[in-house]
Amino acid sequence: MLDWNPDLYLKFEKERTLPAKDLISRVEIVNPKRILDIGCGSGNSTHELKKRWPNAEIVGIDNSKSMVEKARSLYDDTKFILMDATEDLSPLGKFDIVFSNAAIQRIPDHENLIKSFYDLLNDKGVLAIQLPLIDEVEAQKALYELEYVKKYKQYLDDKELRFNTKSPDFYYDILSSLFNPNSIYIWTTTYTHSMDSLDDILKWYESTTLVPYFDALPNEEIISNFKNNFYIKLKNVYSPRPNGSILFNYKRLFLVASK
Ligand SMILES: C[S@@+](CC[C@H](N)C(=O)[O-])C[C@H]1O[C@@H](n2cnc3c(N)ncnc32)[C@H](O)[C@@H]1O
Repeated sequence: MLDWNPDLYLKFEKERTLPAKDLISRVEIVNPKRILDIGCGSGNSTHELKKRWPNAEIVGIDNSKSMVEKARSLYDDTKFILMDATEDLSPLGKFDIVFSNAAIQRIPDHENLIKSFYDLLNDKGVLAIQLPLIDEVEAQKALYELEYVKKYKQYLDDKELRFNTKSPDFYYDILSSLFNPNSIYIWTTTYTHSMDSLDDILKWYESTTLVPYFDALPNEEIISNFKNNFYIKLKNVYSPRPNGSILFNYKRLFLVASK
């Protein structure tokens, strides 16, 4: 499996960290002792947690070697562990906050995943999760159209390409079976990112959503052809504003619940 490219990911660090900041702002614990950041990536979300609660012990876990190495190189005040979120996480101990920003969308079975996160929480602990609602991003239409092009379809057909994000109702039912229903907050936000060019949207996609597509395609030539055709399709979806900027709307789902 292709690994993440942390430098390309961090090209849009400001935009990608904004939802982490918004999620943190809705967690009301004053003095948490231990915080877990699941799918911490290159450590940008973990760093925001550290800024908000400097006295807490914070652990970031991620199953990408390149992302964990990048996080360790950027932030030496936090512990980053190469670990998969679907493993038994109980050896890490209990936490006052279990946090995950833009990370669990590719993991299946969110019902059991959320239950396993719940089990990691101390009494009065808070679970805080953000997931992209990728099907509502305009660029996604262009990508889905490409999947049906014959020369790519044969390689993509049996691959896990979809995000596993479900509806707010689905998450409400799981959260309300575990947490105090009065403590549950669920909301969506559409971020309107102003991009310098279409190329930026392509780079954003290259660093995240396109990774499993590139992994499935057999060689550099087809990958490059796929990228060019995706770019051409993006031109049909996005038009520049009068100042040349392109508005990239990205919708996200937020979940917060307290024990
Ligand atoms: C879009 S990045 C988000 C990084 C960071 N949390 C942020 O706010 O920018 C998604 C991260 O989730 C990680 N990830 C995906 N599946 C995972 C899994 N099963 N276990 C641990 N980490 C996972 C990826 O390796 C990647 O670093």
